Amino acid sequence: DAPETLKVRPPVVTIMGHVDHGKTSLLDAIRQTNVTSHEAGGITQHIGAYQVRYNGKKITFMDTPGHEAFTAMRARGAQVTDIAVLVVAADDGVMPQTVESINHAKSAGVPIIVAINKIDKESANPEHVMQQLTEYGLISEEWGGDTIMVPVSAHKKIGLDDLLENILVLAEVSELKANPNRPAQGVVIEAKLDKGRGPVASVLIQKGTLHVGDTIIVGPCFGKVRAMNNERGERVKKAEPSIPVEILGLNDVPEAGDILDVTDEKTARSVAEKRMEKKRSSALHVNAKV
Ligand code: GTP
Ligand code: NA
Ligand code: MG
Repeated sequence: DAPETLKVRPPVVTIMGHVDHGKTSLLDAIRQTNVTSHEAGGITQHIGAYQVRYNGKKITFMDTPGHEAFTAMRARGAQVTDIAVLVVAADDGVMPQTVESINHAKSAGVPIIVAINKIDKESANPEHVMQQLTEYGLISEEWGGDTIMVPVSAHKKIGLDDLLENILVLAEVSELKANPNRPAQGVVIEAKLDKGRGPVASVLIQKGTLHVGDTIIVGPCFGKVRAMNNERGERVKKAEPSIPVEILGLNDVPEAGDILDVTDEKTARSVAEKRMEKKRSSALHVNAKV
């Protein structure tokens, strides 16, 4: 897109970190809601994407259930994240998935903000976490490095303003832009088959604006957007860059990382069918090997 068509878009922030370090709780605290208490066993089953508004600016957050979905998306060449918030529990410190998260963010070239969580705990030792992180090249600004590290407590709602302000500053420096006035392009965050509604795909729009009625191709699937919901389950007619939406109307269930494009019906059908054929034959090939 030509530079003059580009408009500022909200940052897309992925919350990463070791299991149970408080990713969902932190997002809950930011959203002032309570997702974790509705989760089976308190484990995040899927990637949720949410938008919050802070000081009049929007931020899109993605909560990952670990690193697998992130890996799946990257394997398909989808780059969804502008900023990674690495959550490290102040009592537990750096753990294996903390290190994997750092590696993922680094190899994707995504800047990291560290949220040292659970500082309300008696056993919390944020300085120790900062010390541990130096081994992975993350040196706190306080210690002369260039990584923003914010002590937070999702439970006591400590440090949330500091975290959000730092995200917005980093977003501004990164000059995140997209052209909203073109056919939409996006990436699937998650998808499922819903008994009543058929295939349902959560998509993050990255360029352009998606409208109800648009004909879309999503990986090996196609269809016409029958309806769209935002993350609160409200019906929306359009979705602009950095907006996550749930889309109804596909003929089949795509995978995380599949790319959405808007096109005409004939192209959508023929390209999707070719991709599906290819996918089936490579699946057969894998089965034949086994
Ligand atoms: P997974 O999605 O399963 O990887 O976990 P998560 O990183 O989303 O962590 P979750 O939000 O489910 O929190 C894990 C546990 O830590 C829960 O028991 C939370 O109540 C607790 N917890 C989260 N944040 C805090 C905090 O700030 N202080 C204290 N004391 N406990 C916290
Ligand atoms: Na958990
Ligand atoms: Mg979680």
